Amino acid sequence: MVELVSDVHEIKAQQRAGWDAVSAGWDTALETFERGAMSATRRLLELGGVREGQTVLDLGTGVGEPALTAATLVGPSGRVVGLDFSSSMLAIARRRGAALSNVEFVEGDLEYVDFPERSFDVVLSRWGLMFAVDRSSMFERLRKIIVPGGVLAAAVWGPASSVPMLQLGFEPLVARLELPPPPPGAPGPFSMSDGDQVAHELKAAHFSEVSVTEFTVPFRVASMQEYADMTKALTPPSIKNMIKERFGSVDDPATWKAVGETVAPYAKNGEISLPSTALCIRAVA
Ligand SMILES: C[S@@+](CC[C@H](N)C(=O)[O-])C[C@H]1O[C@@H](n2cnc3c(N)ncnc32)[C@H](O)[C@@H]1O
Repeated sequence: MVELVSDVHEIKAQQRAGWDAVSAGWDTALETFERGAMSATRRLLELGGVREGQTVLDLGTGVGEPALTAATLVGPSGRVVGLDFSSSMLAIARRRGAALSNVEFVEGDLEYVDFPERSFDVVLSRWGLMFAVDRSSMFERLRKIIVPGGVLAAAVWGPASSVPMLQLGFEPLVARLELPPPPPGAPGPFSMSDGDQVAHELKAAHFSEVSVTEFTVPFRVASMQEYADMTKALTPPSIKNMIKERFGSVDDPATWKAVGETVAPYAKNGEISLPSTALCIRAVA
């Protein structure tokens, strides 16, 4: 855990700028990503028991999931709030949800939510919580904003090796750019991949009926090219700049060819299947 306040501010500023910068890429890659990711949304809605009339919060909503799907379930008598700290991501979510009157998207940090106590029946998050710097205090805050008996239902990633959708394309970038490994304990996509540890943290924050279960997200891409295009769209500008510096262009063909080729062994029957392990958390406030 990061101790120094100045470090936290710095980490947050960098994280926010990074997400703002990749928001257009998330928009571009939406169809490819949701082909698999929508099943994780459905799993979370099931785990959360989301139903008509409820008030639901989606943390780290990005371009709008699972908030938008939750809004269709809670109906006109319910309400969904999608929260993210990236204003660029939120702009896309708002565009996507423009036709829905029961969902709003607000800017905020998922670690420092300041809604009144007992505001939500269900709190959801699909691949957002892993970016928290201090999970213990986040879980404490989240429990308080959920009604007693309400549910936190969230997906985080399992270990990197079980998430080919993200990890395969990253490997050639690490190798070609000689990227150092992230510092241990740093927030990031795989920072919650130890399910036992996560369960322990939730219980310490006084959640009950805690479960952390594996869920296979059935990601599929049509071709190596589609995988390379998606990876490129989601690659942060800091890494793209390194590609440009080292190889002369962000579009360096050898780099993206190497990225695409990582999924070749997963090709079968005319498509490429990249089943990836999410850990699905369910905890009762
Ligand atoms: C991997 S994306 C997931 C987006 C969306 N939930 C989905 O599944 O498509 C993570 C999102 O969490 C947001 N995020 C990361 N850290 C955050 C924080 N501390 N507070 C609010 N949002 C955060 C990012 O801006 C980004 O939109």
